[in-house]
Amino acid sequence: MDLYPLARPFMSLIDPETAHRLTIRALRMGLGPRQKQPDPVSLAIDLFGLHFENPLGIAAGFDKNGEVPDAILAMGMGFAEVGTVTPRPQAGNPRPRVFRLPLHRAVINRLGFNNEGHEALKKRLIARRSRRGIVGVNIGANKDSADRIADYEAGIRAFDGLASYFTVNISSPNTPGLRALQNKEELETLIVRVLAARHTGTARMTPVLLKIAPDLGAEELADIADVALRLGLDGIIVSNTTIVREGLVSGVNADETGGLSGAPLFAMSTRVLADIYRLTQGRIPLVGVGGISSGDDAYGKIRAGASLLQLYSALTYDGPALVGRIKADLAAQLAADGFANLKDAVGADVKL
Ligand SMILES: Cc1cc2nc3c(=O)[nH]c(=O)nc-3n(C[C@H](O)[C@H](O)[C@H](O)COP(=O)(O)O)c2cc1C
Repeated sequence: MDLYPLARPFMSLIDPETAHRLTIRALRMGLGPRQKQPDPVSLAIDLFGLHFENPLGIAAGFDKNGEVPDAILAMGMGFAEVGTVTPRPQAGNPRPRVFRLPLHRAVINRLGFNNEGHEALKKRLIARRSRRGIVGVNIGANKDSADRIADYEAGIRAFDGLASYFTVNISSPNTPGLRALQNKEELETLIVRVLAARHTGTARMTPVLLKIAPDLGAEELADIADVALRLGLDGIIVSNTTIVREGLVSGVNADETGGLSGAPLFAMSTRVLADIYRLTQGRIPLVGVGGISSGDDAYGKIRAGASLLQLYSALTYDGPALVGRIKADLAAQLAADGFANLKDAVGADVKL
């Protein structure tokens, strides 16, 4: 049963971070909805050695501490990304630090990587080890770290063998200086060290994806594409939240500091997605994220070059029933355009 319609009026009245905490608690108690029927076969896709039943995943930040990946998968998500996790536990910025912009169907957050640290997440992932389902781990650096790249290496070492894939998150706007790791030389050093930190000698090297900001210029995007292709990154996630306030008319919470997500991020992040698809010549799988709230949005990201999708903000407005709606719409649109499967539609709108 989907309890969300009952809870929704109450949830929209309370502080968003408290509402989120209650959601996680409900999911931990097994109160989340469960998808009954299998996904349409046209939505399945194989990428970097993993088989995804459908391309829609939960974006990082929803389950920072890996408390509910299996509940997320059970509601019909094709994969779950937990984190961002940092080596040591971290309190994050003072509250309030998450704001709803209902007029724009958007969210602004300046959480600042609040999380319980590597050890706590590791225990939970070990406890679910025998379960099926794709669970990626999004790794970051502590705010006060003397060597941030070493924090990413520690993340790889802590979760190698437990994570289906890694996301290297260097694009949060809420840790001062973090996004400078997107600059060419720093990025190159980071990626070389991160890739080398993986266990060698195992049958399968854990895939490593890079998550980038939507606020990068043409030159920075070209540098990232070049580094990704040269060093053999497995994928790029486009994008994190934006510090730009494009298209926001003033209204409740529009002036808050932090990263903006939800509907106003859609156009921007999809533009950057298509740019990266073009710059990498479609040779690296991309994950489209930013403002997805419908089957149209999802299909738009696929046609702009995404092989996988993630979302977060729209769920806070529409609840978990959105997952099934997006997948059904996406399957219908693929069929209407004559695509037998998702892979054939990837990048259909981009001229290489
Ligand atoms: C409250 C909140 C917390 C987030 N925390 C993280 C995080 O810890 N790590 C990360 O990589 N992205 C984080 N994000 C960004 C999302 O993963 C996603 O990239 C962004 O919200 C755009 O997707 P959306 O428009 O569907 O929300 C967070 C987003 C929100 C709204």
